[in-house]
Amino acid sequence: MSTIAVLGAGKIGESLLSGLLNAGYSPENLLFTERYQQRAEELTKRYGVRATDPPTAARQADVLVVSVKPQDIEPLLDEVGELVTPDKLVVTLCAGLPTSMFERRFTSGTPVVRVMPNTPMLVGEAMSAVSGGTHATESHLDLVEGMLGSVGRVVRIPEDQQDAVTALSGSGPAYFFYLVEAMIDAGILLGLPRSVAAELVVQSAVGSATMLREGEGHPVIMREGVTSPAGTTISGVRELEKHGVRAALIDAVEAAHSRSVELGAKHRQETDSDGA
Ligand SMILES: NC(=O)c1ccc[n+]([C@@H]2O[C@H](COP(=O)([O-])OP(=O)(O)OC[C@H]3O[C@@H](n4cnc5c(N)ncnc54)[C@H](OP(=O)(O)O)[C@@H]3O)[C@@H](O)[C@H]2O)c1
Repeated sequence: MSTIAVLGAGKIGESLLSGLLNAGYSPENLLFTERYQQRAEELTKRYGVRATDPPTAARQADVLVVSVKPQDIEPLLDEVGELVTPDKLVVTLCAGLPTSMFERRFTSGTPVVRVMPNTPMLVGEAMSAVSGGTHATESHLDLVEGMLGSVGRVVRIPEDQQDAVTALSGSGPAYFFYLVEAMIDAGILLGLPRSVAAELVVQSAVGSATMLREGEGHPVIMREGVTSPAGTTISGVRELEKHGVRAALIDAVEAAHSRSVELGAKHRQETDSDGA
């Protein structure tokens, strides 16, 4: 079994470690790096996984999962860049950073796979999209899909679609939380206690999501199933249409996409001028 090192065990990195252990990876085959000693000790106590420094991780592991914030990437690459050779596989979870940026910093021929996960990884329900860089083979992509399959679902996409994924499933949980928050407010307006309103809305969201995932039906058919003639739901749906909620959601995702493209371009400019 490959040794996997998680470089930066924050929210996403820790969820991945936990998911890999639940999926049967042995703690002996896992490593992680963290900046703060106390956090490293806590994680070792919680998971039985060894903490180390990034250069040691780069030497000892076969798979390096880069899970630091994009703004922290440069010092990490300075530390490990020369130690990363084509016999390793680099998996980057860093939003907006292209595989080409990593490839330039490692020995020529090093395989890099880019992943856009989302926060439901914390509960083993992530949606991750993977894209291979120039030197990533089918077996590298299979390995990454297997790893991420332990913490949710995975799709494979061309790298030029990563900004769209960022806008849809990367930011997506925030839109669902926003809708849930608004519906809970509506329950409170109608006089329900907050805890009851929250229970009603959250379970309705979980049930609806489960129907969408497990049923073969289209969302429109499922919505029509709840919308009886002259009933209560159609009165509510008319208000959603009147307020342009559908158009607002489309605009929201489109705006997130534009911002992702803009941040990516800014980062490319900065790293290009650093490297020049
Ligand atoms: N959270 C999301 O919704 C989401 C979604 C998609 C993709 N991502 C990507 O996932 C990555 C991780 O995000 P996150 O939310 O898990 O961030 P996070 O909680 O801040 O975790 C990053 C961790 O890396 C540590 N770190 C930074 N530089 C390091 C270094 N040189 N060596 C060792 N450890 C280092 C940080 O330590 P400190 O505490 O000292 O800073 C922190 O614990 C990011 O690149 C992000 O773009 C996140």
